[in-house]
Amino acid sequence: ILLVVIFALVGFSGKIEEIQKRGVLLVGQDPAYAPFYGVNEKGERIGYEIELAKMMADVLGVKVKFVITNWDGIIPALLSNKFDFVLAGMTITPERALKVNFTTAYYETGQTVFYNSEKYPNGITFEDLKKMGSKVKIAVQLGTTGEFTAEKLFPEAKILTFETVDAAAYQIITKKADILIFDELYYGSISKKYPSIKVWNKLLNKEKLGIAVKKDNLDLLLWLNTFIECKKTDGTLEQLKQKWMVD
Ligand code: ARG
Repeated sequence: ILLVVIFALVGFSGKIEEIQKRGVLLVGQDPAYAPFYGVNEKGERIGYEIELAKMMADVLGVKVKFVITNWDGIIPALLSNKFDFVLAGMTITPERALKVNFTTAYYETGQTVFYNSEKYPNGITFEDLKKMGSKVKIAVQLGTTGEFTAEKLFPEAKILTFETVDAAAYQIITKKADILIFDELYYGSISKKYPSIKVWNKLLNKEKLGIAVKKDNLDLLLWLNTFIECKKTDGTLEQLKQKWMVD
């Protein structure tokens, strides 16, 4: 009986209660992914997902803290309780969903090809890349769907992996790589800083982004789903998109 009572207490005091008692919502992100998040001149974290996380914390009545970890270690970090969830432009995939639970999608995007128009003034097509065979150098962020897409579409190509998307993008800025494959939504921020960077206007695929939650935190998952639904309905997600996504 005692054991049953203990289990009941442990099992029923949910994740949300834990967050509220702590007084801080811990959000897992990687160093930078503009315009979802990045650091401004004053050193403050800004962006679409930063604002979204603050709105969540307001409703929960807690502060928000962003815990930074490398992208390729972000799911292991979630599983070892370094933060409450991952809100970091993560694509919902069935493979990842074996390890974490995803909320409903809050954003839709897809992979695209980024290139430097100083290196390729007439653009570069799928056929051009195929013809280049093993000579093509594709920059990607390690462990992203951009990496998986590059491997699938260009199995002969040389794939260069980097810890951050900015480091991967630097390869096309400095013309060391031919293309970058990454989420289309990155285009607004990179092309603003480096106007010679262009993208294909057709996406390579479609992807939905969701928040990743630990499998046993079902109360938090359900609350986040409701939060996203409400913010879709009242137009908040659309406003955030208008504010942060430059096209
Ligand atoms: N959406 C892609 C993925 O899930 C890329 C995400 C990269 N996120 C980041 N925070 N750098 O694989």
